[in-house]
Amino acid sequence: MAEQKTILKALAGETQDTPPIWMMRQAGRYLPEYKATRAQAGDFLSLCYNSDLATEVTLQPIRRYGFDAAILFADILLVPQALGADLWFEAGEGPRLSTITTEKELEELRPVVEIHQTLSPIYQTLRNLAGALPKETTLMGFAGAPWTVATYMIAGRGTPDQGPAHALKAENKAVFEALLARITEATIEYLSAQIEAGAECVKLFDSWAGSLKGGDFDAYATAPTAQIIAALKARHPDIPVIAFPRGAGEKYVGFHAKTGADCVALDDSVTPEWAADNVQKTGCVQGNLASYHMVSGGQALVDEARAIVEAFRNGPHIFNLGHGITPDANPDNVQRMIDTVRGG
Ligand code: CP3
Repeated sequence: MAEQKTILKALAGETQDTPPIWMMRQAGRYLPEYKATRAQAGDFLSLCYNSDLATEVTLQPIRRYGFDAAILFADILLVPQALGADLWFEAGEGPRLSTITTEKELEELRPVVEIHQTLSPIYQTLRNLAGALPKETTLMGFAGAPWTVATYMIAGRGTPDQGPAHALKAENKAVFEALLARITEATIEYLSAQIEAGAECVKLFDSWAGSLKGGDFDAYATAPTAQIIAALKARHPDIPVIAFPRGAGEKYVGFHAKTGADCVALDDSVTPEWAADNVQKTGCVQGNLASYHMVSGGQALVDEARAIVEAFRNGPHIFNLGHGITPDANPDNVQRMIDTVRGG
């Protein structure tokens, strides 16, 4: 039997001498080859829906660096678009969407069974990748978690404090909860289709989980994640799931058990020593080098990467950044991070 891939070993709970490594936003604007392919596609969304070019940009960081996982090139906001929201990207600013804040707007969304019409090129990208990746590289699918996706659908854009979503939660809980339920259902179907197209593991990005406090965190970050994972495990019991409740802080404790996640991804606001004691005890962790090291580099990058490897060395660990790499990063620093993690 072929040796199991290193990422899948970590997700199965195995402790390895050298942690496997990949990087959030590994295909992105810090790479000249990404910028060239994006220019060829025209714009970001055209790149997401062009299976051949999306395959190419997914492979670029694998060719350049030999990461242990390839993450599908797509975006968490394709699900709102597939549900019928308008979506576009303002150059230099970020995403814009038509907003959903009333029962009428909610009713106008498309039924979940229809999302695949929009999303079928994404499944084709995964099928391409399943045939194109080196045999040691794990193919990772992903989606946004319902709360994070809802914050964009309610505000119509990214917001620093997720204010509009918190306001809808306070003013019209029925619409807020119905929207979350719709996204949850769509996410289950989307990730199942990704798995059927070849994804060997999937990740749920809850980038704004940290703005939910107390019972709201349990109800709108933990519970939908648990619901999605339970549904996926019922259909695809052998496919591991990574959950990323960014900014969870002390709520990281117990997140494996409460959600059924095989791995909990850590942002850089928690120290690896704390996380080793309090989170890795209950399962695999991923993370958590601060992204700015990919800009600043130097000895601090090496020291911090070594400290993270050291802190997590007695349990299952996948090395990653605490958030996505930024466009101003230096590609040489990425190589230095990899050499440090693999070479000691
Ligand atoms: O990690 C990867 O390499 C896989 C591809 C991926 C992208 N977005 C590509 C992308 C993934 C996993 C995402 C997730 C995503 N998208 C999240 C969750 C993770 C996080 O960063 O918190 C969120 C919140 C989004 C929504 C989104 N997409 C925003 C807010 C923006 C604009 C901000 C920015 O960085 O420009 C995007 C655009 C986006 N998604 C880019 C990429 C490579 C940049 C687009 C470009 O090429 O101009």
